[in-house]
Amino acid sequence: MQWQHDSLVLLDQRYLPLREKHVVCSHLADASNAIRDMVVRGAPAIGITAAYAVVLAATERYRQHGQDWQQYIDEDLRALSKARPTAVNLGWAIAQMRAMFPPPGSGDPQPGLLEYARQIHQQDIDANMAMGRLGAGLIDTRACVLTHCNTGSLATGGYGTALGVIRSAYRDGRIDRVYADETRPWLQGARLTAWELVRDNIPVSLIADSAAAHLMRQGNISWVIVGADRIAANGDVANKIGTYSAAIAARYHQVKFMVVAPTTTIDMSVDSGAQIPIETRNADELLELNNQRFAAQGSSAWNPVFDVTPASLIDAIVTEKGIVMQPDHTKMAQLMAAT
Ligand code: MRU
Repeated sequence: MQWQHDSLVLLDQRYLPLREKHVVCSHLADASNAIRDMVVRGAPAIGITAAYAVVLAATERYRQHGQDWQQYIDEDLRALSKARPTAVNLGWAIAQMRAMFPPPGSGDPQPGLLEYARQIHQQDIDANMAMGRLGAGLIDTRACVLTHCNTGSLATGGYGTALGVIRSAYRDGRIDRVYADETRPWLQGARLTAWELVRDNIPVSLIADSAAAHLMRQGNISWVIVGADRIAANGDVANKIGTYSAAIAARYHQVKFMVVAPTTTIDMSVDSGAQIPIETRNADELLELNNQRFAAQGSSAWNPVFDVTPASLIDAIVTEKGIVMQPDHTKMAQLMAAT
């Protein structure tokens, strides 16, 4: 993600790892579409993109309407907030940016808002580094770990949440090998996580999502480490579809389960995971591969792309503010109240 010449430039994750193409977002609609179509994905990266998208919207409205630009921006921001429903970072970033709108009559809003979007971006990188250090400290026996989806540089401002912990722990000599779920149907694990780990020279083996329980039974997996799209006030975690089954398998095999997410992913306004909106995407993501249908003609598909893991299956939630072991409502509230 880079701001260049009044535009936001995004690495198009739909083409990785085969091609490195970029999408230039010069208008709010370009950025909204990029989030909706998963040019950029991963909760923190969606939030940062949204922050830059607000800069685009404000710039556009200021050029059209001069000092009255704020009267026209509500509809823009409402549309942006609907681009993807589950990752709370999207709404969080829009609210943060809105709170920084200058008083009416203050002239061109772009310089001030751009500065604030850059701060949101940098704060996410700083949070990633802090979580990397804290989470790595929980891995006390040298072993292998399992991760799900993509939670690395591509999904964040840089470094990663779960993948940040894995990067730090590998550097500290606490991890031998990373097993990565391929993450059907969009293949974030096979395409993106494997790409990031190979580039970092961290040994990675892909597995079919359905091989996870079998892998855990073989032993030598110390932790399952995942990110989050939204964490409820009671510690329930919405994350990529398949996270819940990985957590059930982990508990059955006495493998510990770690969720790594910045506090921007915690939504204290929802009491439990039952209230988190779960995105359902196009059936074609399941029925086709590279625009080629492979499923039997005539079959339909159900494609929920997130699930909720109850707090009771989670051993640790790692944030930049600290670690919550065996999360519950009280501990989450204490974390969020800490400065
Ligand atoms: O549909 P995606 O690819 O946006 O889903 C991403 C995930 O579920 C990640 O695990 C989550 O956003 C955490 S990323 C740091």
